Amino acid sequence: MVRKYNQFYTEKHIGEQLIDALGDLKCINSCVELGVGLGGLIAPLCERADLSTLLTCDIDEDNCEISRRNWPFGFHYNIDVLLPNFEEIFLKHQAKFDLALCNPPFGWIDHTEYTRKILMDNGILSLSKNKSVRMEVLFVIQNLRLISLGGSFGVILPELIIKSKIFEKFRSVLKEMFQSYLCIENEAYSFRGTEATTYLLVLKDKLKCLYELRDDVEFSEVGSVKINRLPEVDIKRGRLTGKECRATSLRTLHTTDFRRYKEIDSRTKMVKKVTSLKEGVLGPTACNGDVVIARVGTRILGEALYINNDEFVISDCVFRVRFGCPDVAKEFLRFWVDNKNSILNKHSSGTCAKYITISCLQDVIGEFFSVVECRREIRGEAN
Ligand SMILES: C[S@@+](CC[C@H](N)C(=O)[O-])C[C@H]1O[C@@H](n2cnc3c(N)ncnc32)[C@H](O)[C@@H]1O
Repeated sequence: MVRKYNQFYTEKHIGEQLIDALGDLKCINSCVELGVGLGGLIAPLCERADLSTLLTCDIDEDNCEISRRNWPFGFHYNIDVLLPNFEEIFLKHQAKFDLALCNPPFGWIDHTEYTRKILMDNGILSLSKNKSVRMEVLFVIQNLRLISLGGSFGVILPELIIKSKIFEKFRSVLKEMFQSYLCIENEAYSFRGTEATTYLLVLKDKLKCLYELRDDVEFSEVGSVKINRLPEVDIKRGRLTGKECRATSLRTLHTTDFRRYKEIDSRTKMVKKVTSLKEGVLGPTACNGDVVIARVGTRILGEALYINNDEFVISDCVFRVRFGCPDVAKEFLRFWVDNKNSILNKHSSGTCAKYITISCLQDVIGEFFSVVECRREIRGEAN
């Protein structure tokens, strides 16, 4: 089931861990939470801190009703924080809160005039020049506007934002804005219904306002790498969970399918073409000439396949690596398979369940191309 409004709620023990990580709560009198859900973060805070002011928002009126019942002293707004009327609430509360808590919805959305405006007004439109933008980035920005100088921010973010190269500059903005930056990896499968690896980020003692930052911060939001003169490589991760994949009537590829497909060398069955469907909803597909790699899964991590004469919607546990040329893709697959153990030893992260990230994949592709270059030089083919 695709959840309405990305409602993956925080389990009690994770909420408690985030509040613990904030340390001393004596100076916390006011708190804001955008996308409060069922209150998985506010509840443990209210047990430990003596709040005089609480402001929460949620796009879902049922959630606001729950907050009104549980915390009647607070202000609870049924509002979309990514629409312009949020400013009405905002202007009253800008830079007022000692603490902001947030577990934002994860994912890409198309920019609107308003989302561009909030980035531009704060001097950081260059953070996101593309057509789409991560909701986590927007929620973080809205929170940063509400936190007072000296205030703190506890936020749950996915691996993409915490680890990938493409959000390095975004992280540097956060580091620059706060005195301390603490990042804790959650156990795998911390959120029911999603296998996404998540992190608790605790930022304390806000030093600056957004508009005080230099405005030359830039990052690219597409997972593609350019390696010297060599071909451009496009890396994409699927969007649907394994369960969501199974619920579609389409041909899909999740990590649990890898072994099965490996045994079937050439499949001649007609497959339903999925490219005509909205990739925006289903996420990326893998087709002829692509390499797919299992990015997570105890027994399947790092398994790779070359897609030959077929097409699949890939799950969020699978990376699709697209090279400009099928021969390069096949050579990369051989390189990957030959070096898989050392690649995983060197590049996989995670304490319990291991996983690989886009930036690790980019490093491995860089290594692969250096080897290819070396071989060409040895053979005297280099230009
Ligand atoms: C990932 S859930 C987290 C809920 C809660 N903070 C927690 O940790 O359990 C995200 C929440 O944000 C709300 N939400 C999603 N998009 C929103 C938007 N544009 N404006 C306000 N709330 C939104 C959802 O209804 C959901 O309750």
